[in-house]
Amino acid sequence: MCRYTRKLYLLRRSLLLLSLINPSSVQAVEKIDLIIDTDPGADDVIALLFALASPDELNIHALTTVAGNVRLDKTSRNARLAREWAGREDVPVYAGAPTPLQRTPIHAEDIHGKEGLSGVLVYEPKKGLAKGGAVDFLIDTLKAARPHSITIAMLGPQTNLALALIQDPEIVQGIKDVVIMGGAHFNGGNITPVAEFNLFADPHAAEVVLKSGARLTYLPLDVTHKILTSDARLQQIAALDNNASKLVGDILSEYIKGDMEYFGIPGGPVHDATVIAYLLKPELFSGRHVNVVVDSREGPTFGQTIVDWHNGLGAPKNAFWVDRGDAQGFFDLLTERLARLT
Ligand code: RIB
Ligand code: CA
Repeated sequence: MCRYTRKLYLLRRSLLLLSLINPSSVQAVEKIDLIIDTDPGADDVIALLFALASPDELNIHALTTVAGNVRLDKTSRNARLAREWAGREDVPVYAGAPTPLQRTPIHAEDIHGKEGLSGVLVYEPKKGLAKGGAVDFLIDTLKAARPHSITIAMLGPQTNLALALIQDPEIVQGIKDVVIMGGAHFNGGNITPVAEFNLFADPHAAEVVLKSGARLTYLPLDVTHKILTSDARLQQIAALDNNASKLVGDILSEYIKGDMEYFGIPGGPVHDATVIAYLLKPELFSGRHVNVVVDSREGPTFGQTIVDWHNGLGAPKNAFWVDRGDAQGFFDLLTERLARLT
C-alpha cells in the first residue's frame, strides 16, 4: 500500500474508531459534496446506480451530462433513467456540451449500443432536465462553494469542466478533488493503440483540466482492466434478485463483450464504477503521484496520456495515477450498494 493510500486508510480507520465513540461527529466529516459528470453509457449507468445508492457518504449536488459514448440527448436521457431506477429524482440532471472543444465528435455506439445502453429497454423517464446548462451550473456552484469543498467525478470526456474553467478560471478554488476515469499508460489504449476513449474524445479539454491546478486523481485503464467481471461476480450481483441487480446484469452481459473480445480477457471492466468505489473506499486502490500530459496533436498519439511513472523529467506531479485495485473488494462493495436499491 503506497504512502498516500496508507494515510487515507489510517484516517478512515481513526474516523471509524471515533464513530464508535461519537457517531454523529464522524458522519459530518466523511460526507463528500459531489457532482458527477457523465456520458451514459453502460458503465456510467452502473456508476450512477452505485453512487445514488450511497447517500450516507455522497451528497450528490447534480449529474451533469456530456456527449461521448452517444449524442448528448441520449446521454442526458440515460442519466435521467439511472436517476429514476435509483429512486433519486431529488438529484437534478443538467445537460452540458454537445461537442468536444475542438476535435470532430466521436461516439462509441459499437460498444454501448445505438441508444447508449444496450441490454435494456430505454424509454423517456418521467422527470425532465433541470433548467439551465451544465457549464453554468458548474460555474455557479463552484463560485458559491466553500474553498476546496466540491468533488467532481468525471466519467466521460472532460468538456463541461474545461468550458467552465476557460470561462471562469477562479472556480478552481471551489474544487476539492477531480476524480477522473480516463487515460492509459502501462498497457495501451482502448480506442487507439495508445489512447483511452474519454481522453481521445476530447484531449483539449483534458489538457485544460490538467493545467487547472485542481487536485486530480486518474483511474485509467491500468486499474480498470484489473477489476474485471467473472461468472461468480455476475452471479453475486444476480443473487440480489432486485430490479437494480437485474438491470446491471442485463447491461453488463452486453457491455463486457466488446472488451473481452478486443483484449482477449476473461471478464469485462466496469470502468466508471471504479471512480465511485474510489470515493467510497479509497483503501481498495493504490497509485503514485506523477506528472501527466496529454497529446492533442493530430496523429497516431492523439489523445495519449504520457505518464512520467519514474519521474524521469522531474516535472511537477499534477495527478495521482491509480494503477492497482482490489477487484473482489470492488464487486463486494458494488453488490452491497445495489442491494440497497429496489
Ligand atoms: O474508456 C472507457 C471510458 O469511455 C468509460 O467512461 C466509458 O463509459 C467510455 O466513456
Ligand atoms: Ca463514461
